[in-house]
Amino acid sequence: MDYDIKDMTLADKGRLRIEWAVLSMPVLNKIKERFATEKPLQGLRLSACLHVTTETAALVTTLKAGGADVVLCASNPLSTQDDVAAALVADHEIPVYAIKGEDHKTYYSHILSALKHRPHLTMDDGADLVSSIHFIALERWDDLEPSVAEWGKGLPAEQRKSFLADVMGGTEETTTGVIRLRSMEKDGVLQFPVISVNDANTKHLFDNRYGTGQSTIDGIIRATNRLLAGSTFVVSGYGWCGRGVAARAKGHGAHVIVCEVDPLRALEAVMDGYRVMPIAEAAPLGDFFCTLTGDINVIRAEHFLQMKDGAMISNSGHFDVELDIPRLKENSVSHRRIREYVEEYTLKNGKRVYLLGEGRLINLAAAEGHPSSVMDMSFANQALSAEYMARNHGQMQKKVYPVPEEIDREIARLKLESLGVKIDTLTEEQRAYLASWHMGT
Ligand code: NAI
Repeated sequence: MDYDIKDMTLADKGRLRIEWAVLSMPVLNKIKERFATEKPLQGLRLSACLHVTTETAALVTTLKAGGADVVLCASNPLSTQDDVAAALVADHEIPVYAIKGEDHKTYYSHILSALKHRPHLTMDDGADLVSSIHFIALERWDDLEPSVAEWGKGLPAEQRKSFLADVMGGTEETTTGVIRLRSMEKDGVLQFPVISVNDANTKHLFDNRYGTGQSTIDGIIRATNRLLAGSTFVVSGYGWCGRGVAARAKGHGAHVIVCEVDPLRALEAVMDGYRVMPIAEAAPLGDFFCTLTGDINVIRAEHFLQMKDGAMISNSGHFDVELDIPRLKENSVSHRRIREYVEEYTLKNGKRVYLLGEGRLINLAAAEGHPSSVMDMSFANQALSAEYMARNHGQMQKKVYPVPEEIDREIARLKLESLGVKIDTLTEEQRAYLASWHMGT
């Protein structure tokens, strides 16, 4: 079996950590049991490009139980848990291509390995796999990592196109990936249907808010071991993720400042009790900064130069472009790694700024990503969306689709059931009342 991981001897540790995660993933476990008998993905090759974590292990073993021939590559160079990668190869015979800390070239060589699997179904977190397949088939060599472009150019034209021809459809996990896919659809280049898992209510309302909220604070604390209480914590972006991080930082006793570009979200932050101001005004005030926007260069050179001596800067948005790290480097006279996930930059003005986790998703770089009980719902959406795509791709167009509402509601129902929470049901009278316009005061 072909694979590329750090160290197979880590498998024992990974096995126990996966076991621990699976204990709090009851919805996905239920789906796995059904998949094992019904085999809805039988005979399908599936390439997954996801953060290689314990929860992802639970997902890919579910897909395998459903009959899929699965391979897994990393969706971020710094998010891989090497022990999990080893356990997936050793115990489940799932080819994994992921090594924590891999360089850009290796990252794309791993995506290439997933692509060479010739998937019928793709599963992405950030759309790097889907975009690579399109770049090769559409011969957009300048958009590809040079070694992947070289490999693509070496293929006969027919073979390049056949990568696309094999794909029935895909699923996408995160906000940034969905933004990229919608832009592909708008430009008329998307060549197969993709289900936006992120748009399911049982995904972004919980994973992005509570998962990112808790794990981002966890990552910042593990990286720095600094006290949040009494500090000033600046959150850029008050979307689903930003709301979660702001709430958790406030819960730790930090004074939270929110920076936004959208007036509605800014207003919501004001009414949620936060100070709201532009990043240029927040820069000299913050002790901690965290970006969660999905945007580029949100904190720039002029802001770094305004920061206090000792400010900690981090990002929990999908790509490492939210902090302008090249300009941070240009404006620094020296640099050293002071702790495992902390780099100290001494600026030209003599002040020190600490960059956490290389500006990559801090919750996955320095901590373990989202807790499994929240990934239970996200990955239940992934598994059921893959099944839906396998069944219905023939009737679907080359578009980005939402997760079908019945899947979303069923996951909420199962999650409540697993938590032992019962809810009311509408009486016939109430059902009729809510469906009619006849009755007023
Ligand atoms: P969202 O679209 O709900 O929120 C993003 C917010 O950022 C919006 O309110 C937008 O107006 C704001 N924004 C954009 N540019 C800005 C700027 N220059 N300054 C200040 N605010 C700005 O998106 P969501 O779901 O909160 O996701 C944010 C990012 O986090 C995405 O890249 C997503 O892929 C990623 N993500 C990361 C996770 C993690 O594990 N760390 C988990 C889930 C999502």
